[in-house]
Amino acid sequence: MTPKEPASSTAPSDGALPDGVPSDGTAALLRAATDERHRAVEARLDLGELLRSRAGYAALLGYFAASLAPVEAWIDAHPHAAALPDGRRRGLPLLREDLRALGVAAEPAGPVAAFNLAGPSEAHLLGVLYVVEGSALGGLTIAKQARRALGVTAETGASFFLRNAGDPLGPWTRFKQRLDARVRSSEQRAAAVDAARAAFDQFLRQPAPAAGPPVTTSPPPHASRP
Ligand code: HEM
Repeated sequence: MTPKEPASSTAPSDGALPDGVPSDGTAALLRAATDERHRAVEARLDLGELLRSRAGYAALLGYFAASLAPVEAWIDAHPHAAALPDGRRRGLPLLREDLRALGVAAEPAGPVAAFNLAGPSEAHLLGVLYVVEGSALGGLTIAKQARRALGVTAETGASFFLRNAGDPLGPWTRFKQRLDARVRSSEQRAAAVDAARAAFDQFLRQPAPAAGPPVTTSPPPHASRP
């Protein structure tokens, strides 16, 4: 009799579980699968430099707006979006409010990369949402630094980064429960990994924000001069 092959030799190389095996770790899988990209995106955003001025902070918000806009449009148009729980907070309106609070009349113009992920399944949708929802955790860190450096609060330009501040872990825990419950098979997990990586790549494709004065914030210096 031929001995059974060890499970590891048949396990998918992307870390997905074989079909039918209970999964409680899709979120952990996605975290591991995107860790390198998260570090790359953090490295692109030189917070020390950007948070030295309101213009730099506005450029950071503009970067998030430009990166997020096509991703949120993709989510809204997704065939499974109707099944998402109500009350999902969209980031783009908050970013626009924050830019307005800083006195930036319009989102900084700039090239916006298209988000063309071909991912019709619910697992793809949840993979993309993992990145969008998870970024609120890092947002708290960014908001803390922005407050220290520039004094911005939820009312004066940090409502996007503080969007879950009232209940920092609640929405994230609920989202991870949904992710773990709905994304279970190896095929679903591979789809979620692809989608999460694609969402991070969207942020990596977007030109990095510059700390210089790419936008005008109010009150402009010497505004009252003739
Ligand atoms: C300088 C910018 C950023 C900083 C400093 C930062 C920082 C962090 C920190 C500290 C956490 C972990 C929080 C915790 O475990 O309690 C986190 C989680 C996360 N961040 Fe970021 N982040 C940044 C940018 C981003 C961006 C642009 C995205 C999305 C494209 C993103 C996506 C995520 C995700 C998905 C998680 C959840 C990871 C997990 O636990 O599964 N982050 N971030």
